[in-house]
Amino acid sequence: MKRAGIIGLGSYTPEKVLANSDLEKMVETSDEWIKTRTGISYRRIAGEDTATSDIAVKASLKALEKAAMDPEELDLIIGATVTPDMMFPSTACVVQRKIGAFRAAAFDLSAGCTGFIYALTIATQFIKNGTYRNILIFGAETLSKIVDWQDRNTCVLFGDGAGAAVVSEVEQGGILESLLGADGRGTDLLFMPAGGSREPASIETVRERKHYIKMNGNEVFKFAVKIMEVATRQVVESANLTTDDVDFIIPHQANMRIIDAAIKRLNIPKEKVMVNLDRYGNMSAASIPVALDEAVREKRIKKGDKVVVVGFGAGLTWGANLIEW
Ligand code: ACO
Repeated sequence: MKRAGIIGLGSYTPEKVLANSDLEKMVETSDEWIKTRTGISYRRIAGEDTATSDIAVKASLKALEKAAMDPEELDLIIGATVTPDMMFPSTACVVQRKIGAFRAAAFDLSAGCTGFIYALTIATQFIKNGTYRNILIFGAETLSKIVDWQDRNTCVLFGDGAGAAVVSEVEQGGILESLLGADGRGTDLLFMPAGGSREPASIETVRERKHYIKMNGNEVFKFAVKIMEVATRQVVESANLTTDDVDFIIPHQANMRIIDAAIKRLNIPKEKVMVNLDRYGNMSAASIPVALDEAVREKRIKKGDKVVVVGFGAGLTWGANLIEW
């Protein structure tokens, strides 16, 4: 069996910064409430003319450069997003066209904030069984386009960004273990009601603000704390290791209180935990690859380290990978 590993990472976040103080002028909220309840201070917002594929391309080209790979060498592109450019075709196909990766197959997957972990896990299988040699995966979101800027329960949480990775065969280390999960009983906890076949777009759906994110924050919060602990333990134990063996962990960046509660249950010290949600908010499928890219560039991850990436999201879904760097 072959080994799969990440050989190049890239990320991109739009320049425009939206601070908590800006949100104070839009909805009834305060910098203090947002910081203490979520840990978020700023988020990035894509321009009106910018679509998800535009920022996915920027992250992808950086990842390809880091991997010293030509787009024509790619066999497959997997896009993870809940904010595709259009319902169809896939944003992965749009990215393929823009970067000129014309040998590659391409598709999107929908797993909410767990999207990047789903994409990494699928890519790993294709490499391990020898089907493909080089795969580009990206997690990219322009959530600002589907956030209800009149709803203080959600608009303070999300931001825009993109992260990408090139996954290829490696000699040692790489993706050691992967775990994916889903519980469709939670489909109504985090969703966008209209615009699909259930409720196609109409004047009513627009008037009723059904093209925006709806979320039961408390329920998602409780689920998240539990599943972050369970998924981390399971992925580590499947490699016959314990959480003491983890050198660094990249949790999904949704809420500081979720991260704090999960790492306390896992007994992982704070210096081993990547946090950047104060600057970006929750970027859904982009959160983990952006954080991973930053951690590598800041040299917080060293060669040989055992790294866990773990997340949860709409679906409900969850997942984790154990990577030897
Ligand atoms: N500013 C001020 N007050 C607010 C705001 C705000 N932005 N938002 C909510 N409130 C109010 C509520 O209206 C409520 O007021 P009330 O008591 O008068 O009714 C009060 O604050 C408390 O509300 P709660 O919802 O109980 O606040 P909580 O402490 O649970 O925090 C939060 C809410 C931040 C949404 C939290 O539940 C959370 O982070 N949940 C997880 C969300 C998440 O991770 N989502 C992403 C999933 S991943 C994906 O796939 C996209």
